[in-house]
Amino acid sequence: MDFNFETCPDRTETDSTKWHRYAGRDVLPAWVADMDFSTAPAIVEALKKRIEHGVFGYPTPRPQTFDAIVNYLAREHGWQIDPDWIVFLPALVAGINASIRAVGQPGDSVMVPIPAYPPFLSAPVNSTRIAKRVPMILQNGNWQFDLPALEAATTPDAKIFLLCSPYNPLGRVFTREELLSVTDYCTRHNLVICSDEIHCDIVHNSGSRHIPTASLSPEIAQRTITLLSASKTYNIPGLTCGYAVIPNADLRTRFRRVIAGIATDVNIFGYLGMETAYNEGGEWHRACLDYLRGNLDLICEKVRTMPGVTLHQRPQATYLAWLDVRELNLENPYAAFEQGGVGLGDGADFGTPGFVRLNFGCPRERLREILRRIGAVAEQHQPAD
Ligand SMILES: Cc1ncc(COP(=O)(O)O)c(C=O)c1O
Repeated sequence: MDFNFETCPDRTETDSTKWHRYAGRDVLPAWVADMDFSTAPAIVEALKKRIEHGVFGYPTPRPQTFDAIVNYLAREHGWQIDPDWIVFLPALVAGINASIRAVGQPGDSVMVPIPAYPPFLSAPVNSTRIAKRVPMILQNGNWQFDLPALEAATTPDAKIFLLCSPYNPLGRVFTREELLSVTDYCTRHNLVICSDEIHCDIVHNSGSRHIPTASLSPEIAQRTITLLSASKTYNIPGLTCGYAVIPNADLRTRFRRVIAGIATDVNIFGYLGMETAYNEGGEWHRACLDYLRGNLDLICEKVRTMPGVTLHQRPQATYLAWLDVRELNLENPYAAFEQGGVGLGDGADFGTPGFVRLNFGCPRERLREILRRIGAVAEQHQPAD
């Protein structure tokens, strides 16, 4: 089946968060992480059928919903889970906040590598915890955890480590050795691991495979809360459905207590969208990944020619490219690019000013124009030799 990623529905008149920010202005949005593509036709068909049913009472996950998850994690990631470990969530951001509150107490520290997906930085504040920010480092063109710095920053009040795997915004898919060294550090400091794996199916390198943190060993599984969702891969975040996988019964009870009566139930369309994605979305998923790889090639080709803009490492996963624009010496890079007609993610929001994040989940011609505009801003502010 052919899927069309070249012509996307116009989102300007819809309720899109991404497009609403620049309504009425000539600014192309490439910030918040959703794609401009229509989702898989199988998902649209399943939702249409459900709408035609006409009754939208309170939903509950069916045995088929659990089966879809269990089969999918086993098939795609070689991870065998027990359905009892699953806790449904309306959104993974709720899961990040709940994970922090499920362990320790106000005043404790939360270990956060930076740059960090912004809710990793706001969630500790929401829970009156202290985010201990530890910068990732570039070694031989490879973004890595700085384990000595993590060790040095970890005090006895640290209770949880926020891991993003694959890593938004750096695009890393971590190897088994890297995951083992970071989980080893967590074990030594008795840290719970909140492993946000929402980008696990958007992996570009044929040589890289996502490894679920909790699949490393039963011991690591006991200290890990894994956050997952079909929303990034199948572009259905508006259906609001995610889930946590928590093998440790005590941790799971604590997590459930935190969200009880606060996090809303998943809606009918969320369960169905996820189920259909996992059961029937494979062909669309592969086609989407192919298309994204083409976009990534274009980014690598164009950014290479831009003065003062560096993509240190080709993303191995995600549809997000992390651009270093420090050489341009802009007081506010986000504002400068916005003025140049592109709405990028602001590195300052990720804890690292001087960088911007480019969302390339869009038709190629739009991406070409986005890159042209980024290049024009770079030319205008290029560093003197
Ligand atoms: C690492 C990560 N976690 C969570 C989310 C958001 O998930 P949700 O929409 O389910 O809250 C995103 C969205 O970009 C993300 O990149």
